[in-house]
Amino acid sequence: MANDRERWGSRSSFIFAAVGAAIGLGNVWRFPYITYQNGGGAFLIPYFIALITAGIPLMILEYAVGQKTQGAPPVALKKIWKKAEWIGWFAVVLVFILATYYATIMSWAVNYFYHSFTLAWGRTGGEINAFFNQALLGKSGSPGILGGIQWPVLVGLAITWILIYLALFKGVKTLGKIVYFTVGIPWLILIIMVVRGLTLPGAVEGLNFYLTPDFSVLLQPKVWLAAYGQIFFTLSLAMGTLIVYASYMPEDSDISANAFMTSLANCGTSFFAGFAVFSTLGYLAQSMGVSVPEVTTSGLGLAFVTYPTAINLLPVASQLFGALFFLLLLTLGIDSAFSQVEPVVGSVVDKWGLNKKWVLPSICILGFLVGIPYTTRGGFYWVDIMDHFVCTYGLTLVGFLECIVIGYIFGASEIRGYINSVSDVRIGPWWDVFIKVITPIVLGVSFVMQFIKLVQKGYSGYPMWTAFTGIGLVIVLIIISFVFSTRKGGNP
Ligand code: PFF
Repeated sequence: MANDRERWGSRSSFIFAAVGAAIGLGNVWRFPYITYQNGGGAFLIPYFIALITAGIPLMILEYAVGQKTQGAPPVALKKIWKKAEWIGWFAVVLVFILATYYATIMSWAVNYFYHSFTLAWGRTGGEINAFFNQALLGKSGSPGILGGIQWPVLVGLAITWILIYLALFKGVKTLGKIVYFTVGIPWLILIIMVVRGLTLPGAVEGLNFYLTPDFSVLLQPKVWLAAYGQIFFTLSLAMGTLIVYASYMPEDSDISANAFMTSLANCGTSFFAGFAVFSTLGYLAQSMGVSVPEVTTSGLGLAFVTYPTAINLLPVASQLFGALFFLLLLTLGIDSAFSQVEPVVGSVVDKWGLNKKWVLPSICILGFLVGIPYTTRGGFYWVDIMDHFVCTYGLTLVGFLECIVIGYIFGASEIRGYINSVSDVRIGPWWDVFIKVITPIVLGVSFVMQFIKLVQKGYSGYPMWTAFTGIGLVIVLIIISFVFSTRKGGNP
């Protein structure tokens, strides 16, 4: 079985694919915004600590599990411990839900890319805001009102799913070639954006804002939670992606150096993207005669409202920079998007031995259909709600369970022995301590604290029933995972 398994063309294909999965929309809007919200420069300290104490140890673990077992998450976890298959399925169903809304955000970027050639989003801040909220999304005002479908968003969604299908249908060898472009092109564009940003008047103000530390925030637990959450999201941990990608590597390939390389490349990209975003925001603040905190809108607004405003103000070639920025988002996002689909496809193929030729298009069509509610007028709120529940609860739970199963049941030192037997960089007993104690404690505490906050206040000002829907969804996904794990597989 292991011998006819699909293979990457080369080690660098694998690294590029893992880097491509990691680098995505999360690096360009989420990282800068979270950094700003959590104390600017001082946030980089918990961020770095989270990378060392949870990001890298868990990445090493997932690479090791995928590579050692040569299976997609459910099969892989089952080989680690018979009763753990459902954890693999849980990661897979979560990443499927993630893929459905991630593709919707990609669809917005597809629309903006199209409109950038004519700068159709308007001129003033008000017009641009209205373009995003009314013209494109037609926001209904509440998650309870879905309203009709916004056709351009639906078309963008279809285009995104077709691109995902095209990237994956020839198998991982071809995928390994595509990722050179989907990682290379955004990097080139990012360099252009940073140079452009830094040469704009007011850039320094933006950078001061980005890099000046406010150490008092280090005493707030929410800052530490945000740092760990961002590390998980950005490295694509606990979602099955890294396990399935590593399973296409031969069993004796290096693990630890690959993990160090991919995580540092990803976090370096985030840090670099911060320069492009904040220098441009500094320029925007100066042009509008306000301070930098006053121009930043939260989360997605940064990419879809603040950026077009800044692009309009550029003295020359706004169309070009508009198109480049949205091309950046698209090329950054697409390899993350298909990395969310591959674990789903790989898991079904590995468990039931079905033909990938049929599984892939079926999953793509299903993903598109499940995504249709996000294209309605209430869709924006559901993207936001799903993101919160999948990432805050699902992801931390999977990470926690992986640590327990590998750390205690399989044995941390045992799997470390395997890692060291194939890797150039040897890892010491410190890794066992992280996997068995530090990472699960951090994840457990984070889960409980977020949950208490949710029960007390609901999520983000939405009605309380949306919080129950989110919790219900996580429970239903766990049940589905159990059901899948009890089905008989078609493969030994
Ligand atoms: N790491 C991606 C980003 O920063 O945009 C998001 C992501 C991709 C999460 C793949 C999970 C995943 F499996």
